[in-house]
Amino acid sequence: MSTSEETAIAGRTVASTQSEMTEIILPNDTNILGNLLGGRLMHFIDLTGAMAAFRHSRTYVVTAAMDHIDFIQPVRLGDLVTLKSSVNRAFTTSMEVGVKVWAENTQTGNQLHVASAYLVFVAVDKEGHRLRVPQLILETPNEIRRHADALLRREHREAESARRSKARHAATAEEAALAALE
Ligand SMILES: CC(C)(COP(=O)(O)OP(=O)(O)OC[C@H]1O[C@@H](n2cnc3c(N)ncnc32)[C@H](O)[C@@H]1OP(=O)(O)O)[C@@H](O)C(=O)NCCC(=O)NCCS
Repeated sequence: MSTSEETAIAGRTVASTQSEMTEIILPNDTNILGNLLGGRLMHFIDLTGAMAAFRHSRTYVVTAAMDHIDFIQPVRLGDLVTLKSSVNRAFTTSMEVGVKVWAENTQTGNQLHVASAYLVFVAVDKEGHRLRVPQLILETPNEIRRHADALLRREHREAESARRSKARHAATAEEAALAALE
């Protein structure tokens, strides 16, 4: 891991990472029921999340994980979808970003919270080497709460990853044992 001149600054505020994107949902974005495809929404979430990570790190970023996506309400053909993101916590080379999504009915102006997600991005240089990210400067009680929650989610992610890795090893050992019996 190296430290670029750009990332050597003391820190950036959460507000400076806030990003927003609005899309109109067209027929190509929907399933046969006229609802926005989940995969398309995940693509929008990934892009909006990356914007916040870019603004915090000022480096290239790669998506390491996307988790805790809750699809709360369907989004309909013709709706406007607005996504807002900001960095919740900066670790060493990674950042957790929160993304919240609203759908707006263009005829009534009615807005609904339709999805939320957390993503982890890792800062890298052009060669893909990981880079240290600046610290995150917290300014509001909500930012402090999200910052604390992000650490709990990281611990949960790490525990899940260890559990999956253990299960994979157990499955491989079982396959090897069965193969030896054949
Ligand atoms: C993400 C990636 C850079 C991590 O590299 P790695 O060599 O496994 O690095 P490490 O295990 O040492 O972890 C590096 C950092 O990433 C974080 N990380 C790695 N895998 C992660 C995961 N699955 N979920 C959350 N964070 C993760 C680590 O916690 C660590 O963060 P920290 O430096 O802030 O403590 C690497 O796995 C990769 O390139 N993945 C493919 C990314 C990609 O193609 N994304 C889709 C297109 S952008």
